[in-house]
Amino acid sequence: MQGAESEMVLSEPERLSPLEARASYREGMAALANSVHIVTTTLGGTRVGFAATAVCSVSDEPPTLLVCLNRESSVYAAFKTATTLCVNTLSASHVEVARRFGGQTSQECRFATGNWTSLNTRSPVLADAAVVFDCRVVSRTTINTHDIFICEVVAIFRSLSPSALIYFNRAYREIG
Ligand SMILES: Cc1cc2nc3c(=O)[nH]c(=O)nc-3n(C[C@H](O)[C@H](O)[C@H](O)COP(=O)(O)O)c2cc1C
Repeated sequence: MQGAESEMVLSEPERLSPLEARASYREGMAALANSVHIVTTTLGGTRVGFAATAVCSVSDEPPTLLVCLNRESSVYAAFKTATTLCVNTLSASHVEVARRFGGQTSQECRFATGNWTSLNTRSPVLADAAVVFDCRVVSRTTINTHDIFICEVVAIFRSLSPSALIYFNRAYREIG
């Protein structure tokens, strides 16, 4: 690539093996600084949740966001039939919450930390989150390994002095 800084590295997934392309893509994605969210729902009255960075605004009229979930994750069975979910965007003080909800822990262990309540949909709400989007799932699409949940926001609960937990370069950073 002409004019690129000498520290830059170019890779072209189409010219790589699937394994190399995956590793290269993941390296690239590690350079994105993302908010960390705990996405929750309930299944038969049991609370279920996972940590996610793949959450994105879709539109503000009506208020709509999307969430991407790996179909191989342990929580997929609960989310695939969910009609409601809640996106809890973490504050700077929530590193331990992020770690627990990031995988390889039981749901009991995940909800044992943090102050959990609920709003309109009854999905678990983290009381001191930076912001909470309580949602109704309006559609779901499968792309490759993931499902994309399109969600209409029915309630927003936000901190008046938010801080942020950012995941960047495979590490948590606290802002504010
Ligand atoms: C910082 C971070 C961000 C994550 N983002 C996502 C995401 O956007 N979508 C997803 O399906 N999994 C994501 N995960 C992984 C899920 O949190 C994890 O697969 C889920 O908790 C289920 O874990 P288990 O299958 O080991 O029980 C993320 C994990 C971490 C630590």
